[in-house]
Amino acid sequence: MKLAVTGRDGQVARALAEVAAAAGITLIPLARPEVDLTRPETIAPALHAAGVDAVISAAAFTAVDAAESDADAAFAINEAGARAVALAAADLNIPVLHLSTDYVFDGSGDTPWREGDATGPLGVYGASKLAGERAVAAATDNHAILRTAWVYSPFGANFVKTMLRVGADRDELKVVDDQIGHPTSAHHIAAALIGIARNLTTSPDPALRGTFHMVAEGTTSWAGFARETFVEASRHGFSAPRVTGIPTSEYPTPAARPGNSQLDTTKLSQAHGITLPRWQDGTAEVVTRLMEDRT
Ligand SMILES: NC(=O)c1ccc[n+]([C@@H]2O[C@H](COP(=O)([O-])OP(=O)(O)OC[C@H]3O[C@@H](n4cnc5c(N)ncnc54)[C@H](OP(=O)(O)O)[C@@H]3O)[C@@H](O)[C@H]2O)c1
Repeated sequence: MKLAVTGRDGQVARALAEVAAAAGITLIPLARPEVDLTRPETIAPALHAAGVDAVISAAAFTAVDAAESDADAAFAINEAGARAVALAAADLNIPVLHLSTDYVFDGSGDTPWREGDATGPLGVYGASKLAGERAVAAATDNHAILRTAWVYSPFGANFVKTMLRVGADRDELKVVDDQIGHPTSAHHIAAALIGIARNLTTSPDPALRGTFHMVAEGTTSWAGFARETFVEASRHGFSAPRVTGIPTSEYPTPAARPGNSQLDTTKLSQAHGITLPRWQDGTAEVVTRLMEDRT
């Protein structure tokens, strides 16, 4: 199997490069400036030249707060760019695996969201990703839209890396404890994407297509995620701060975040036979790697 991925230098794409290499899968990474989602005309020729069996659409405008003041850029990349990738895949008759987000929901209630539940993004980023989902679905039936959440990895900027950085010289950190979700390792996402791509490229079954929730097993709050990060880091000699939970109201941000980001993953496991590991497993793996990189 030969795969392409957009957003070569993003967390998911970099994890995918490692997981694909280990699995003996050829991965063609596509990135700016050659492939720019704000210039849709750059996409189809690059994908055509790549000669792949499926494309993973991972590039996105992911700056949730910045999106509030730059809606045009967010929609250009997350809606029009996503559409162009899906149209190019349709033209080549290959499946597109498009990454989306828990931020399409409004975060109300306290039960896990299912794929068919009503969406209601709280901010521009979520609205642009929802528009992207709709554009992909309209462009081709041969799609899997995969909503993931709270992504972290050894790469780029993410919550785990921030906690280890700011926690290194503080005795106490105040972290939001009333947003509940699934911290999900980019490497676990990558492994799942390869399994889903294998299924899509070997079977025309409509049950493999559509929208799926793809997050780690189990939930926690950001404060819980921080505590677990520090428990793991302490095993490697890190002097961990105390984590004090605070309500979202004490940590205002330009974009509102959903309180309840629990996602029901039953559909993915039943259709694709894929379940991601527990969030604590990914945390241990990533923290271990980051701590080993320090020494
Ligand atoms: N991070 C999360 O917590 C999270 C949660 C839920 C869903 N997701 C979704 O999962 C996917 C992957 O997320 P991630 O964390 O891996 O993202 P990321 O680390 O922020 O990487 C995004 C990538 O997209 C690229 N990109 C941005 N604008 C582009 C453009 N105009 N043309 C081409 N490439 C462009 C960036 O390129 P440059 O390197 O050139 O800037 C970057 O490499 C995204 O679709 C995101 O919406 C992420």
